[in-house]
Amino acid sequence: MQGRVFSGIQPTSGIHLGNYLGAIRNWVTMQASYDCIYCIVDLHALTALHDPAEMRANTREVAAALLASGIDPARSILFVQSHVPAHPQLAWVFNCVTPMGWLNKMTQFKEKAGKDREGAPVGLFDYPVLQAADILAYKATHVPVGEDQKQHLELSRNIAGAFNRKFGVEFFPLPEPMILGEATRVMSLRDGTKKMSKSDPSEMSRISLVDDADTIALKIRRAKSDSILGIAYDPENRPEASNLLVIYAALAGRPRAEVEAELVSTSFSDFKSRLADLAVAKLSPIAAEMRRIAADPGYIDGVLRDGAARAAAIAAPILAETYRIVGFLEP
Ligand code: AMP
Ligand code: TRP
Repeated sequence: MQGRVFSGIQPTSGIHLGNYLGAIRNWVTMQASYDCIYCIVDLHALTALHDPAEMRANTREVAAALLASGIDPARSILFVQSHVPAHPQLAWVFNCVTPMGWLNKMTQFKEKAGKDREGAPVGLFDYPVLQAADILAYKATHVPVGEDQKQHLELSRNIAGAFNRKFGVEFFPLPEPMILGEATRVMSLRDGTKKMSKSDPSEMSRISLVDDADTIALKIRRAKSDSILGIAYDPENRPEASNLLVIYAALAGRPRAEVEAELVSTSFSDFKSRLADLAVAKLSPIAAEMRRIAADPGYIDGVLRDGAARAAAIAAPILAETYRIVGFLEP
């Protein structure tokens, strides 16, 4: 194995094509060559979600989506963040070596807090410190994420470095972000300049992993297009064509340029039907598998319980050594 992978996803309902192509699909591939740990980050979700029934349902839904996509609990660890206390424990230590100024630079906090910064929860501000703790509680070396997480990963590296310097140790590795594939930033189907996101009010803006074949085809048919002949990659002038082209290449598992060369004289509507066929072929088996797994919550809970025990066994000695380094007495 080439190192240890850690990545996380929030338990929000409606995992979409952006999550799948930007992150989950790479998580699946990496299982062949890394020790992989995948976490459903409910502590992070609590910064915005205050509905207990929804929290529980979303956690199982995301677990089902990951299992259906090909995360194999026999090879990888799949677990829920709140089941392993080392995450918030290590986050506290990192809180004490991370300057406020670093967090003030985080664009995701600014976006999520919006105009009401004074009303935003402290946890939302502290979110990236907990993310660093997630990764470093396992001394993970590689972190596969979508492009939007680049700044948080840079911060994780800085926090690891700050800890090591402050205590004069070479304890935490500096984790490498892995932003892989053709579709590291999938855009909205309704507006090629906006990120595909769960928080977009329009269902038509995203393809959800639970969509059936007809819904997928409809959303692609209705996706915003332009009237230029041929499909070309030109995000500046043709954001929608570029986004659909990237999605096509990613789903086909082929380089973008190769696909682009085939589509120079294809009309937008012909391209959309090809894309719809491909998306249905690749995604509807995942939706079917997700429905099958979701019908057995006992199985899901068992996988997560087993994952938490394996995760805790790795994190506990790393946390204990961290406590020793900072000078806490042994209990
Ligand atoms: P989240 O749902 O925000 O927890 O994101 C889970 C993973 O999906 C992270 O690695 C994100 O970077 C990735 N991701 C979210 N939205 C997109 C998108 N539109 N395109 C590519 N990757 C994305
Ligand atoms: N912040 C990430 C997101 O919103 C989720 C996440 C939490 C994460 N902890 C992580 C990703 C650790 C990678 C590593 O997508």
